[in-house]
Amino acid sequence: MFGIKTKIKKEWFRRTQHFFDYKFSTLFEYQIFERPHYAYCMYHAAVLAQRLGQKKISIIEFGVAGGNGLIAIERLAEKIEQYLDNSIEFEIYGFDTGEGLPEVEGIEDLPYWFEAQQYKMDVEKLQNRLTRAKLVLGNVKETASDFFEQHKPAPIGAMFYDMDYYSSTRDCFKLFNCNDINRYFLPRLYLYMDDVIGQDIEMYGEFNGQLLAIKEFNGESKAIKIHLNQNLIPKPDIGYRYQIYYAHLFSHENYCNFVGGNEKLVSQQRLKLKA
Ligand SMILES: C[S@@+](CC[C@H](N)C(=O)[O-])C[C@H]1O[C@@H](n2cnc3c(N)ncnc32)[C@H](O)[C@@H]1O
Repeated sequence: MFGIKTKIKKEWFRRTQHFFDYKFSTLFEYQIFERPHYAYCMYHAAVLAQRLGQKKISIIEFGVAGGNGLIAIERLAEKIEQYLDNSIEFEIYGFDTGEGLPEVEGIEDLPYWFEAQQYKMDVEKLQNRLTRAKLVLGNVKETASDFFEQHKPAPIGAMFYDMDYYSSTRDCFKLFNCNDINRYFLPRLYLYMDDVIGQDIEMYGEFNGQLLAIKEFNGESKAIKIHLNQNLIPKPDIGYRYQIYYAHLFSHENYCNFVGGNEKLVSQQRLKLKA
């Protein structure tokens, strides 16, 4: 848990971050990003990519709406690239209908909570605000199928799921039907699931929304599995700890490449000290 001194420091950094250009490491340590969950996934995906010898990775946001998330990703990309001495470059993609939520497909989409056309995007306004992210407009049911052919993205390292519905999340997972996973994905991915925790009245569970889409995906897929992370769960200060998932692409040609780095050395040294 954060001690009182750390809490004061964190508050100081939070209040002054717009006046001083703090380093990524400081912002990361005190978890004071606009979207710390995006920072977590992007940073760790970048480190994994580095260890696998990649120079470029893609980040995807599913569900863009007004675009605040995509803009936050652009800012984070700049900070992380700088922090890693430009050894990694990010490509950024945002999927959205551009017209807000489509019609619900069934009760699994929580029709008591979501409505068609909610979160409509002003496409032109957003295009003008974006500096590097690319919008992939249309229903993800269609756009997922020709995404690789159209964009030839750098390997995907992290994906943020915020399309609200069970049906839309299920369709986002169609990206995994890619016939060249070695080229287009890292062997393990960092995922953020926005709609697994909500207000008391939303009542998410394994029989609706994103959790149902994940359960069905895992039931059908053998070579790729999606699961809740285990390392953040014991950290009560991390508000998003139940929303970070990992995808393992077991049949990826680089799945078994050794990626142990300093943290492995540190734990080996700890073991020696204990012996
Ligand atoms: C909650 S909003 C996203 C908010 C955004 N991530 C943010 O943080 O500002 C959900 C978005 O998902 C999009 N969406 C939902 N289902 C979709 C689908 N099947 N295809 C494309 N976009 C979809 C909607 O258009 C809407 O803009």
